Amino acid sequence: MKRHLLSAADLTRSDAELVLETAEELRSLADRPIKKLPALRGRTVVNLFFEDSTRTRISFEAAAKRLSADVINFSAKGSSLSKGESLKDTALTLEAMGADAVVIRHWASGAPHLLANSGWVRSSVVNAGDGTHEHPTQALLDAFTMWRHLGSLDGRRVTIVGDVLHSRVARSNALLLQTLGAEVTLVAPPTLLPVGVEGWGVETSYDLDAALPKADAVMMLRVQRERMNAAFFPSAREYSRRYGMDARRMGTLQDHALVMHPGPMIRGMEITADVADSPRSVIVEQVTNGVAVRMAVLYLLLGGSESALGGTTDVAGDAGKDRTIEGADGSATAGGAA
Ligand code: NCD
Repeated sequence: MKRHLLSAADLTRSDAELVLETAEELRSLADRPIKKLPALRGRTVVNLFFEDSTRTRISFEAAAKRLSADVINFSAKGSSLSKGESLKDTALTLEAMGADAVVIRHWASGAPHLLANSGWVRSSVVNAGDGTHEHPTQALLDAFTMWRHLGSLDGRRVTIVGDVLHSRVARSNALLLQTLGAEVTLVAPPTLLPVGVEGWGVETSYDLDAALPKADAVMMLRVQRERMNAAFFPSAREYSRRYGMDARRMGTLQDHALVMHPGPMIRGMEITADVADSPRSVIVEQVTNGVAVRMAVLYLLLGGSESALGGTTDVAGDAGKDRTIEGADGSATAGGAA
């Protein structure tokens, strides 16, 4: 893997598969009473959030803590950024505090690239969502969720529905799913498909009903009103009628097909409550899987090798006993899972 994770395009197929396999090993921790491994002990992960977030920030925080890293949460609100400090000076401050990884969410597309390529920090940079551009760890957790249910994604059809124009989730998913061999169909009203989508290598459609029976997974996107500066569709009611997932539409899916949503979802807009809470919906599982995937990403970026996780299950299961596993830096770390 490269030093940074800025775009889903940074991942080769074998990189992506390594993340999924590592996440699978780490996922078992979530079911154990003591959810901690010493792999990143002594490392510092900074969560640098310039935009509101619930699940992504908490997920990165949980992931870093479960690997025993020290976590510093930094949000733009209440920091010197509101006094006019630049990204550069914030970055230099983080560097001075010895961050090993910076997880950045920013309202400006390209901010993580600037941080990674500017030379301001030596740490690994992880893009946790930049503007309308990309959100690679979301795509990884989505792929992981599909992979656990459907097996190999080769030839699988994934339909992504809704506000593609403003969605970094859709962009990263379109890239990663194709890397993993899936076929992607984007379904949206014409006003919510981006210019240049022809170059993405995906199919597009305006007709949700036609796309559903062929899908192995359907990913509903939130309508991103905060990024809309114009009227992209006549009314919420009209949008829901044409592009919303409801029980009738869910009934046209194949038996094995999954219903997904990255959250936060607007119940009644892009998805009805009965679909969101149905057994076919894997929305809550996506959140659980997000922690495992982000653990895998942090672990692999900060120098862990796959073999160093061997014995994960034993270590976690035998919490309290003295054990030795390889730390992410290759050194042996003594101690239990506490
Ligand atoms: C997404 C995001 O922030 O891009 N949410 C998330 O990370 N779980 C999607 C959204 O905000 O609609």
